[in-house]
Amino acid sequence: MEIIKKIKEMQKRAEELRLKGKKIGFVPTMGALHEGHLTLMRETRKKCDILIVSIFVNPIQFGPKEDFREYPRDFEGDRKKCENEGVDIIFYPDVNEMYPENFSTYVEVEKLSEHLCGKFRPGHFKGVTTVVMKLFNIVKPHIVAFGWKDAQQLLIIKRMIRDLNMDIEILPVETVREEDGLAMSSRNMYLNEKERKEAPLLYKSLLLAKELIEKGERNSLNIINKMQEFIENNSENIRIQYIEIVDTENLQPLKEIKGEILIGIAAYLGKARLIDNIRIKID
Ligand code: PAJ
Repeated sequence: MEIIKKIKEMQKRAEELRLKGKKIGFVPTMGALHEGHLTLMRETRKKCDILIVSIFVNPIQFGPKEDFREYPRDFEGDRKKCENEGVDIIFYPDVNEMYPENFSTYVEVEKLSEHLCGKFRPGHFKGVTTVVMKLFNIVKPHIVAFGWKDAQQLLIIKRMIRDLNMDIEILPVETVREEDGLAMSSRNMYLNEKERKEAPLLYKSLLLAKELIEKGERNSLNIINKMQEFIENNSENIRIQYIEIVDTENLQPLKEIKGEILIGIAAYLGKARLIDNIRIKID
């Protein structure tokens, strides 16, 4: 397994591989790798010749009061996990390599960032699309994997690829969960024992919403209120940031449940900001 830290070197390797006719699969990450990330790697592996993973905690997608500094970093652990998964190359640049002085060009996908996390993390998705665009230009992938865990991110990247005619296939991967339903996340490391016990309530509230819809409920506000009530009645520490029911295509809020919907939730548990979502199709 190669570890490449320089952009020019990564671009040169990617070009060589392309000239040899190799299909490049790519999984961008911020490290602190868990089974969710590893599942993305395994799924991508099936569809490519060369598997490249990037590990880069991207400063421009964190707000000034967010956890950029504390974000978990464990390169040695990550390196071993990648090696076990048969990763061919880790791209591991430092911040100065990615953002030299006078960096001033950004990519922004409009509209899709208005709701869900976009409302509470101004500039976040602009930071994500910019770094992902840069990584695509450096790694030159044919196929890239993104997780449904970050549904809004996945849909925004999909739109960027389409709108800018990027010749890249996107591979969406279902959310990987702990046994008790908690969506795996690098940020779960912030949870203390008590918080960790409450954390699965987020997913349980989404399952409650699903059940209500299956029983015929079609009013979004009723569902959101019941989810909120359920969490408040069962937890001491969860502080809900939002619960939203939106259309899966354009991520605009729906008053009435119809078509393909996405229910998203974000909440603080101690200092950890956790997100989760489910998608439901109504015939
Ligand atoms: P990170 O949070 O490290 O996630 C990297 C990829 O793993 C994303 O596509 C994310 O959706 C996916 N992922 C994380 N947890 C998952 C889970 N439990 N199940 C399935 N997939 C999961 O997302 C980012 O990094 C960054 O924003 C990035 C795209 C790398 C840009 O900086």
